[in-house]
Amino acid sequence: MSQLILYLSKDEIQKIVADMAKRISDDYKGKNPVFVGILKGSFIFLSDIVRYLTIPAELDFIRTSSYGNKSVSSGEVKLTKDIEVDIKNRDVIIVEDVADTGVTLSYLIDYMNSKNPNSIKTCALLDKRGYRKIGIELDYYGHYVSEGFLVGYGLDYAEKYRCLPDIYDLKL
Ligand code: IMP
Ligand code: MG
Repeated sequence: MSQLILYLSKDEIQKIVADMAKRISDDYKGKNPVFVGILKGSFIFLSDIVRYLTIPAELDFIRTSSYGNKSVSSGEVKLTKDIEVDIKNRDVIIVEDVADTGVTLSYLIDYMNSKNPNSIKTCALLDKRGYRKIGIELDYYGHYVSEGFLVGYGLDYAEKYRCLPDIYDLKL
């Protein structure tokens, strides 16, 4: 039987997200960046972080698939929904729920660079940097994760648990 162990409460998450938004707002003062959320996992994180910003922002979404219904990455990224905003000469911030192997983010950085933005930075709520297969360093991260498979607050396991307000470690 699988078990959910509380990992970050909704209050802890809000503190982390507000702090990230402050750092981003300071760094992008006077600018109007485009936040590109990676669906589906980042949808709650993105909707929270933009409400703490003190700068204007535009939003768009992109969707990739690599996991299927497993908890281990297949290592292949497929673009299943493209962005719609023209990011040429824009400052782009890619918003991810969890940066794990780095395969998704490195693929998306290359993909978006081909559209000639002014800059690209990466932002992830959770950083599993010990699991990187590609040496991506996040520009903004909320919380370092040393191990476990986390669900809730947008994060799923086989499309389950996304709507939980807190983040849990799923023990299968
Ligand atoms: P990557 O391995 O860095 O390419 O991460 C691919 C995707 O795996 C991310 O977009 C996450 O949505 C998902 N992922 C990685 N670790 C977890 C986890 O602990 N819980 C839920 N999703 C995860
Ligand atoms: Mg995901």
